[in-house]
Amino acid sequence: GRLSTKELLLEAERGSYAVGAFNVYNLEGVEAVVAAAEEENSPAILQIHPSALKEGGVPLIACCISAAEQASVPITVHFDHGNSKQELLEVLEMGFDSLMVDGSHLPFKDNVSYTKYISSLAHSKKMLVEAELGRLSGTEDDLTVADYEAKLTDINQAHEFIDATAIDALAVCIGNVHGKYPSSGPNLRLDLLKDLYGLCSKKGVHVVLHGASGLSKEIIEECIKLGVRKFNVNTEVRKAYMDALSSPNKKDLINVMASAKEAMKAVIAEKMRLFGSAGKA
Ligand code: 13P
Ligand code: G3H
Ligand code: ZN
Ligand code: NA
Repeated sequence: GRLSTKELLLEAERGSYAVGAFNVYNLEGVEAVVAAAEEENSPAILQIHPSALKEGGVPLIACCISAAEQASVPITVHFDHGNSKQELLEVLEMGFDSLMVDGSHLPFKDNVSYTKYISSLAHSKKMLVEAELGRLSGTEDDLTVADYEAKLTDINQAHEFIDATAIDALAVCIGNVHGKYPSSGPNLRLDLLKDLYGLCSKKGVHVVLHGASGLSKEIIEECIKLGVRKFNVNTEVRKAYMDALSSPNKKDLINVMASAKEAMKAVIAEKMRLFGSAGKA
C-alpha cells in the first residue's frame, strides 16, 4: 500500500536500515520495483527523474501511484532532482509523496532560498522534502583534489541549511557520484558522513546517498552503519534493462519485455537485501 515517505524513512531510522529509491521510466520499471519489494517483503520508493517525467508524463506518475496503492508492501512515489522552480511548482500538484529540491547548482544563499520556498509549499501538502548540499560529480569529471574537496557537503553550511529550510532529508556529497565510479574505485569520505549524520540525527533529518550504483557491499554496509537511510539507484537497474533488451535470443515482444523486467527485478531485489530493507515491510 501507499505510505508516506516520512513514515518509511522514520521506520528505517528506527530499524537502522536503508530504503532503496529506484528510478523508473516505464511500466516495466515500476512493476520490477513492486515485484521485487513484494518478493523481498521490503518497502521501496519509486522515483521519477525530470527526464523520465518529460518522457512519461502524468501517465507515468499515475502508473506509480496505482502500483503503490495496490502493492502488498509499503511503496511511495518520489520526484527526483527538482532543479527548476517552474517544474517543481507543477510537480507539487501531481500527487507525489515526496520530492527532492535540487539547488546544488546554485550558490549557497540561492540554494537556501530556493529550497526554503519549495519546502514550505511541499510541507503544506504533507510531502517529505529532500534537498542537496554540495555538488555531486559526474563520472566523467577528472577532479583535482581541490575540486573534489570543494564539492563535498560542508558541515557548517549543513547546519545553517537545515535550520533555514526545514528540510526532512539531506542528500550528502561525500565523494559519491552518479553513474560509474572511476576504475580506482569510490573515494568516499566516511568521516564526513559520520559527522553529517551526527548533525542530521539531532535535527530529525534523514541522510540520503545518491549514486549508489557501483558501491560495493562493504561500502554500502558501512554507509548504513554511519546513518544513510535512503539510497538512490539508477544506473545498475537501467543497465540490466538495456542488456536484457539487446540480448538477441528472444524475438517475441512479450518475452523481451518479461525478461527485461526480470533482469531489473533481480538487481533491485539484491539491493533491497543489501540495504537491509528486505523483510522489513
Ligand atoms: P546511480 O545512477 O549512480 O545509481 O545514481 C542514482 C541517483 O542518484 C538518482 O538520483
Ligand atoms: O540522478 C540522476 C538521474 O537519475 C539521471 O541519471 O544521469 O544516468 O541519466 P543519468
Ligand atoms: Zn541523484
Ligand atoms: Na553511482
